[in-house]
Amino acid sequence: MAEPHLASFSRLAEIVDLEHFPIHDVSAPARRELVAFCRGELAEDGCCSVKSFLRPDAVQRISEEAEALSSEAYRTTVAHNPYFSPDDEQFPEGHPRRQFQKRTNGFVCYDLIPDTSDLRALYDWPAFTAFLSEAFEIDPLHRYADPLAAMPFNTMRPGDTFPWHFDTNEFTVTLMIQPPESGGLFEYAPNVRSPEDECYEDVARVMDGQSDKVKTLELAAGDMQLFLGRYTLHRVTPVTGNRHRHVAIPSWARVPDMIGTPHRTKTIYGRLTDAHLTAAQQAPARADALTD
Ligand SMILES: [Fe+2]
Repeated sequence: MAEPHLASFSRLAEIVDLEHFPIHDVSAPARRELVAFCRGELAEDGCCSVKSFLRPDAVQRISEEAEALSSEAYRTTVAHNPYFSPDDEQFPEGHPRRQFQKRTNGFVCYDLIPDTSDLRALYDWPAFTAFLSEAFEIDPLHRYADPLAAMPFNTMRPGDTFPWHFDTNEFTVTLMIQPPESGGLFEYAPNVRSPEDECYEDVARVMDGQSDKVKTLELAAGDMQLFLGRYTLHRVTPVTGNRHRHVAIPSWARVPDMIGTPHRTKTIYGRLTDAHLTAAQQAPARADALTD
């Protein structure tokens, strides 16, 4: 993975609207307000969107990169339940554990994103990591060392969908680069389960379209979303219309030097790098929940 190089402040100011969102200035009242806003939204329902975080010109440049790379996306179609667990006949038919829905989407890996990309400049900016650390109240946060998974594009074509699921990772950041013409909406049922209770009946109601707990987040180009997906059931509805949906997923972890396991990396991204093999050799004990 290339060493990060720090972009100039003037360049970063062309990427992020730093007048409204002065994430670099810890003494700015607007930054304190933004941190408080994010914390409040995350505490309330595990989801926060910062509208128009990226400047329109930057979004345009990044969306052109995403479009140019979309033919190189590794596409998979799999059926999974909300828990990504195998079928279990101990549960009755129709139970959430036994509802397998089809997911089709693609990933453009981080190593394909040009060195000159605005996305790389933003991801490598320590002020961005510091801001997110405060917003999530997780300190420290470390950028991934994974050459593929550090910041992939998730690309969805018309017809693609990501069905109901809980995340295995604790927190997620997404940047909407290009919304589809229609569909492709983010729907979520906040805190429908808890660490103590799977709340299967509530989960079933959401999956059956019978729940009044479901919220919809419509993300526009340039919006940033912060999300806690362990207890909040969520999905992306089928993309419709002619335009692809492109979302960048910059990734952080509580521990440094995060690199995915070969198995998981191959499954999601379709290939491995030397860094994955070296990391697996050096730290076989990483095959645990912290790794992925
Ligand atoms: Fe998710």
